[in-house]
Amino acid sequence: MGLRCSQTVPTVVLIVVAVVGILLLVLPAKEMALPPENMYGIVLDAGSSHTSMYIYKWPADKQNNTGIVTQHDECNVKGGGISSYADNPSGAAKSLEKCLEQALTHIPKFRHHQTPLCLGATAGMRLLSITNASKSQRVMKEVENKLQSYPFKFKESIILSGQAEGVFGWVTVNYLLENFVKYGFVGHWMNPGRDTIGALDLGGASTQITFETSEKVENKSNTMELKLFGKTYRLYTQSFLCYGQDQYLRKLLAHLIKDNYPNSTVFHPCYPKQFNEYVILGKDVFDSPCTVDSKPDKIDLEMNVNVVGTGDYQNCLKNVKKIFSFENCKYSKCSFNGVFQPSLRGRFMAFSAFYFTHKYISTLTNMDMTSPNQTAKAVRHVCNMSISEMTTKTKQDEKYMKNVCAVSNFVQVLLTQGYHFNEVSLPSISFEKKAGGASVGWALGYMLNLTNLVPAENPVVMKALPIGPWKGILFLSIILIFFALGYLLFVYRKAKANEGMV
Ligand SMILES: *[C@@H]1O[C@H](CO)[C@@H](O)[C@H](O)[C@H]1NC(C)=O
Ligand SMILES: *[C@@H]1O[C@H](CO)[C@@H](O)[C@H](O)[C@H]1NC(C)=O
Repeated sequence: MGLRCSQTVPTVVLIVVAVVGILLLVLPAKEMALPPENMYGIVLDAGSSHTSMYIYKWPADKQNNTGIVTQHDECNVKGGGISSYADNPSGAAKSLEKCLEQALTHIPKFRHHQTPLCLGATAGMRLLSITNASKSQRVMKEVENKLQSYPFKFKESIILSGQAEGVFGWVTVNYLLENFVKYGFVGHWMNPGRDTIGALDLGGASTQITFETSEKVENKSNTMELKLFGKTYRLYTQSFLCYGQDQYLRKLLAHLIKDNYPNSTVFHPCYPKQFNEYVILGKDVFDSPCTVDSKPDKIDLEMNVNVVGTGDYQNCLKNVKKIFSFENCKYSKCSFNGVFQPSLRGRFMAFSAFYFTHKYISTLTNMDMTSPNQTAKAVRHVCNMSISEMTTKTKQDEKYMKNVCAVSNFVQVLLTQGYHFNEVSLPSISFEKKAGGASVGWALGYMLNLTNLVPAENPVVMKALPIGPWKGILFLSIILIFFALGYLLFVYRKAKANEGMV
C-alpha cells in the first residue's frame, strides 16, 4: 500500500521547518541592523580648503572588534577651511552649525550623549599657527566652544601633526581593506596574513606618504610603531608642509613672479592657453609662510599682476621641478628636500587630491596611465588643452580646470622623482575616493584610535557578527533538506520494492 504516514510525516515536517528556517534567515536580514543597536561617532575633518563632517556607526555590542565600523553620513561645510577665518574666529565656529544640525537629526536622539565628537585640523591650521599662533588659538577655541554646545560627547578639537595625519590615513586604508583582521568562515576573526598597503594623501596644504617598512628608519621623526590586534607594525611616515596642491600652486606662482618682478604681466606655462587672471600679490601669493622664500625684497603687496597662460608642457615641467630640491641628502637615501625615505614597499592607495587629479587626467585624455612614460604623455596632452575644452569635457568649473596641468605635473614629479615610484611600483598605486562605502582619508583612523575601536591586544574572545551564525544556520538548514530528501527517496524506494514483492 505504498508509503506509510509514520515514515513520511516527520521527514516532511523537517523539510518544512528547514525551509521556514531559511526564509526566516533570508527575509529579515536587513532589519537585523536597525539603528537603535548602533553606536555613532562624529569626526570633523578641518582641512585647509574646506571642512567635512563624517558620521560613523558600529554595532553597540561590538565596540572592541573591527571590520564593522562603517560610514553612516557625510556633510560638507559650506565656505572655506577654518583657517580662512583667521580674522573672524567666530565665523569658523558658525560655519560648522549646519552640518552639526544634520548630525543631530541623523543620529538617534537617545544616542547623542554617547556619541564621541572630535575635530582634527590639518595643514591649513598648522600654517596659521606658524603665521600667527594667537590667531590660530582663537580659531581653535571658538570652534571648541561651538562643539561643546551640542549634546554630543565632546572629545577633543586639535591641530593634528603631519605624522598623525599620515598614520591615521594609513590606518583608514588598511582598516577598510580588512588588512588587520578579517571576519572568517563561521564566526572567527583572524589575521588575514596580508601585507598592508601604503597611503598617499594630497591635501590643500600638505601631502603625506606612509608605509610599512623593515628597513632602518634613519630619521627618528619619520618612524612610528603601532600595535593593532596584537601585531606590531613599523611605519615610515612623512608629511611635507607646503606641498599640498593649493600651497604648491602658490609656490609655483611666487617663483614665476619673482623671476619677473616687477613686471605686471607674468606668463604661466602651466595655465591653459587663452586663460588669464589677475592676482594681488599680498593677498593671493605672498600671504603664506610657504612663499616667503620667493618673496622679492621691497615688494609692493598691493600690486596687481596679470597671469597669462601659455599651456607649455615642457616649460611647466621644468618650473615644477624647481620647487623640489633633489640635493643635499645627509642620509643613505632621500625623497626630496633632504628628507629620508626608505625603499618603497608593496602596493599603495592614493586618495584625496591624488584621486581627483588622476580622475581629471583620465576623463580629459582617456589615456592609460600605468607607466611613468604613459603618464607623462597623458599630462602633456592635458597641458595642450584649452580651458574651454577642459570645462566642457569634465563639466567642472574653470577654477578647478585652470590648475589641472600644473597639479598633474606636480603629482607626476612628486611620485616619480620625489618618492621614486618607477615602472614597476607606479602601476601598484590605486587611486580611490572611497573604499568599503567610506571616504578614504585620515578621519576614520583618527576616530578608531580615539575611541579604542582598534585595540592594541588581540581580543581573546571575539564575538560573532550576525552574518556569522546566519551563514552557519543557513548551511545546516540546506544540509538538513538534502538529508531529509535523501531519506524520503530511500523510504519511497523501499516501499516500492515491498509492493513489487507482494
Ligand atoms: C572594550 O575594551 C575596554 C578595554 O580594553 C573595556 O573597558 C570595555 O568594557 C570593552 N567593551 C566591550 C563592549 O567589550
Ligand atoms: C597676531 O594677531 C593678533 C590679532 O589677533 C595681532 O594683534 C598680532 O599683532 C599678530 N601677531 C603677529 C606676529 O602678526
